[in-house]
Amino acid sequence: MTTAARAVFAPGLFDGQVALITGGATGIGFGIAELLSQLGAHVVLASRKPEHLEPAVADLLARGRSASSVQVDVRDPERVKAMVAQVVDEHSRIDILMNNAAGNFYAPSASLSPNAWKSVIEIDLYGTFFCSQAVLPVMKAQGGGRIISTSMTLHYRGWPMMAHATAAKAGVDALTKTLALEWAEHGVRINAIAPGPIPTEGVRKAFTPPPGSAATDVFDVEQAMDDHARKTIPLGRMGTPADIAQMVAFLASPAGDWITGGIFVVDGGEWLK
Ligand code: COA
Repeated sequence: MTTAARAVFAPGLFDGQVALITGGATGIGFGIAELLSQLGAHVVLASRKPEHLEPAVADLLARGRSASSVQVDVRDPERVKAMVAQVVDEHSRIDILMNNAAGNFYAPSASLSPNAWKSVIEIDLYGTFFCSQAVLPVMKAQGGGRIISTSMTLHYRGWPMMAHATAAKAGVDALTKTLALEWAEHGVRINAIAPGPIPTEGVRKAFTPPPGSAATDVFDVEQAMDDHARKTIPLGRMGTPADIAQMVAFLASPAGDWITGGIFVVDGGEWLK
């Protein structure tokens, strides 16, 4: 996190608050955990993979932050309920849910297997719904909370090789608006962020053709991302996890108190080109 980013938000902004971040151990999710914990929140990182959770929590604790972890597969509603019960048991409350967990890969629709389609739809769309539904009773009992989900911009125009993810994220947008209307009466604000390209390890993996594919010999993912940034991002660079984390902090803070049902594009202007 840059010094400039830290200086924008008041120290202690989230003191006493608990933020549950799915996919929080890596990439954008970890960037969000870094900023919210820097600003005083206890962050609970949720992931399928203990090998991701352990070093991420250790890293935050070593920096004097308040952090813990919980193992979950967001596709499984029972495990999601158990995750929420564990967080409440250990930390008494959940003020912020960040639906960050996502699965994605670049694949032609004509040959996408039923299980490939199902995997992405279940992680991105079902997972967002299951986690949101599971935290509602907790937030309701507390008198409110904030849910922020991760969308994308590729479905605004359609995006070849991304039928599964674009369909899932269109669903996340619809869910964001509908849940915002249903749950406003409980003081729960629900928004989504649509990030532009952010070259995390997960994105590199998602955009790298599988071994043996015809494209492997000619496709350089780093070069492709550089070319993409230069040609298609008006602000001239790829994004960083900190770019997204700052929007999360804004929406989760009292500055966002009259904002719900919004989908906020944070992409250097990319989708307009
Ligand atoms: N192209 C086509 N199909 C693919 C694929 C690809 N690049 N990657 C995975 N699949 C298919 C698998 O073949 C499988 O389908 P099958 O059973 O019909 O063979 C199905 O998707 C599930 O894959 P699997 O890896 O077993 O599932 P998983 O539940 O462990 O993980 C993902 C699913 C999406 C998370 C995983 O593919 C992945 O790690 N993706 C890259 C990382 C990522 O998505 N990060 C987020 C960046 S936004």
